[in-house]
Amino acid sequence: VSLKARLQAEIAASGPISVAEYMARCLHDPEYGYYATRPAIGAGGDFLTAPMVSQMFGELVGLWAAQVWINMGSPPSFRFAEAGPGDGTLMADMLRAARLAPGFVEAADIVLVETSAPLRRKQAERLADHQVRWADGLSALTPDRPTIFVANELLDCLPALQFVRTLQGWAERRVGLSADGELVFGLTPTDLPENAPHDLEPGLVWEVSPAQAMFAAELAARICASGGAALLIDYGRAAPEAGDTLQALLGHEKVDPLATPGEADLTVWADFPTVLTAARAAGAQTFGPVPQSTFLQRLGLDQRAEALKRSRPDHADVIERQRLRLAAPEEMGQLFKVAAITPPGVPPPPGLERS
Ligand SMILES: C[S@@+](CC[C@H](N)C(=O)[O-])C[C@H]1O[C@@H](n2cnc3c(N)ncnc32)[C@H](O)[C@@H]1O
Repeated sequence: VSLKARLQAEIAASGPISVAEYMARCLHDPEYGYYATRPAIGAGGDFLTAPMVSQMFGELVGLWAAQVWINMGSPPSFRFAEAGPGDGTLMADMLRAARLAPGFVEAADIVLVETSAPLRRKQAERLADHQVRWADGLSALTPDRPTIFVANELLDCLPALQFVRTLQGWAERRVGLSADGELVFGLTPTDLPENAPHDLEPGLVWEVSPAQAMFAAELAARICASGGAALLIDYGRAAPEAGDTLQALLGHEKVDPLATPGEADLTVWADFPTVLTAARAAGAQTFGPVPQSTFLQRLGLDQRAEALKRSRPDHADVIERQRLRLAAPEEMGQLFKVAAITPPGVPPPPGLERS
């Protein structure tokens, strides 16, 4: 039995499922889910993330964390948490760079929020030199000490519902079965979805992610209670915008999201307006989103690239390509965005100053 066969049987018995439920099953089904069984990040895998592109990414985010810690008065004990740490590269690079702030690493209670058992094993290998612990969810962020929180490409794993404006009114896009039993998208009439514009052009898709909103609300409440700051980096929209962003990647190629459930990585865009509104509703202050290029350049990406090129002239071309991959507008610079969540009343975190 495959996940596809199981979903086909379930849908035949109980009817179509929402896109959010389909995504959650494909990613997290304990037996067949992508993250439960086969996550493949990196050049030989299904997709590449910024920490894999260049060590400069993690180093600059590590310096961000160190500066936030210094701005808090260098507390002798704080929580350094990352959610969705992938293969552990980002945390390893952050900790190496943050050594520039004496006392930071020693003061850090390092918590990795991770649902994937195979990735926990990779993180344990990559971070063997550090004392780290794992948690299944944000409930591990008890407010007993200030918390610095980082998540890169986590929001895009949190599922969304999809709605379509039709000529007859609104419908939800759900995953059902064709006459010959294949998984297909279908439409179920529904009311106006949350925050959707009344006059959306027929045919357009409107996405709503209760999971992203809930995650942001929970994170914000915890940051408000503990003090500190959270940094969210992801590809997504900075303003409310229609569009079908459900995407499946297998071996760096886009594939049909319904073709191979559980075998491909499945994502939707981070919805920053929803995420930041939910964080503010939970009492927090929010900053951004700013484009990833703006954030990294404010933290010194160009200077760091120049310094690396001087120390490795034989690698100058590679380093320049990595810098462009992270920051050029046609690469990750514009689509990827950065936002922060803090308790009310504190000054903007580094890189997120209002320009
Ligand atoms: C796209 S990877 C990003 C990895 C890493 N941050 C990087 O930049 O290379 C998504 C990560 O989030 C984890 N993840 C997915 N859904 C999650 C959830 N609901 N809670 C916690 N972690 C989750 C995955 O197992 C994986 O580590």
